[in-house]
Amino acid sequence: MEQTPVLKVEDIRKRFGEKEILKGVSLEINRGDIKAIIGPSGGGKSTLLHCINFLTLFDAGRVFLNGEEIDHTDRRRLYAYRQKVGMIFQDFNLFDHLSALQNVQIGLVRVKKIPKARARERAVAELERVGLKEHMDKYPAELSGGQKQRVSIARALAMDPEVMLLDEPTSALDPELVGEVHAVIKRLAAGGMTMVLVTHEIAFAGSLAREILFMDEGVILEKGPPQEILYGAKRERTREFCDKIIHFHHKDNG
Ligand SMILES: Nc1ncnc2c1ncn2[C@@H]1O[C@H](COP(=O)(O)OP(=O)(O)O)[C@@H](O)[C@H]1O
Ligand SMILES: [Mg+2]
Repeated sequence: MEQTPVLKVEDIRKRFGEKEILKGVSLEINRGDIKAIIGPSGGGKSTLLHCINFLTLFDAGRVFLNGEEIDHTDRRRLYAYRQKVGMIFQDFNLFDHLSALQNVQIGLVRVKKIPKARARERAVAELERVGLKEHMDKYPAELSGGQKQRVSIARALAMDPEVMLLDEPTSALDPELVGEVHAVIKRLAAGGMTMVLVTHEIAFAGSLAREILFMDEGVILEKGPPQEILYGAKRERTREFCDKIIHFHHKDNG
C-alpha cells in the first residue's frame, strides 16, 4: 500500500520582485524519513523552508500535511499546522527577554492552552532531553550558541511536531559547539523524527539522510542517496558543488 507522505510540497513558486526565487519545487517526505537539502548560498533553501511553514507566502503551489491541503487563510488551521511542523532557524529565534524555560513554556501555554504548571513540567522535561535542565533559568544572552540552538529544538519538540524543518542549524556556531547540536539531532533521528535538514555539513547529512536533494537557482536539480549525490552526481553543477564542499571539509578537518 502506498503511504501518505507526512509532508508534501507541490510545485511551489515564489518571486521577490523581478526575481524568481523558487521555480516550482516539489518534495514529499514519509514518516520517519530524513531528507537533507544542500546547495549554494542564495539557491532558495531558506525561502523554501519558510514557504513550507507559510512564514513566506508563495505565489503558486500547494502544501499538504498527512494528505490534507493547508489553507493558510484559515488562521486556526494554520496555527495547528505550524505546531505540527517544527522550525529550527540558523539564528535560533529565541525570545531574548525570556529564560530558556520560559522560551519553551510559552508556546505550550499560549498556543496549546496547557495550564501553566503542566506546561512548566513539560518544558523542563524537554530541556532535560536536550541536556539543559541545569541551565533552564538562564537567558539566551547567558547561553552559548550550542545551548541556544538546543533550547530552540526543545521548544519545537514541546509542540509534538510531526516533522521538523531545520535550516542550517549549526552554521552560526563555533566549531567546538557543533557536536552537541548534532548529537541532539542524531538522537531525534534515532527516535524516528521526520526531518528536512538544510545543511552544509555533508558528512552529517550523509550519515542521517536517506536522500540528499541538491538545490540551486530555485530548483531541485538532482536528488538521490548520499553516496550517489556526493560522489557520483550526474549533473555538472551538483558535482562541482560537492567537490568543493568535500575538499573544504577535508581541509577544515585537517
Ligand atoms: N525577503 C526577501 N526579499 C527579497 N529577496 C529575498 C528575500 N528573501 C530571500 N531573498 C532572495 O532569495 C534568494 C534565495 O535566498 P535564500 O532562500 O536565503 O537562499 P539559501 O537559503 O539557499 O541561501 C537570494 O537571492 C535572496 O537574496
Ligand atoms: Mg539559507
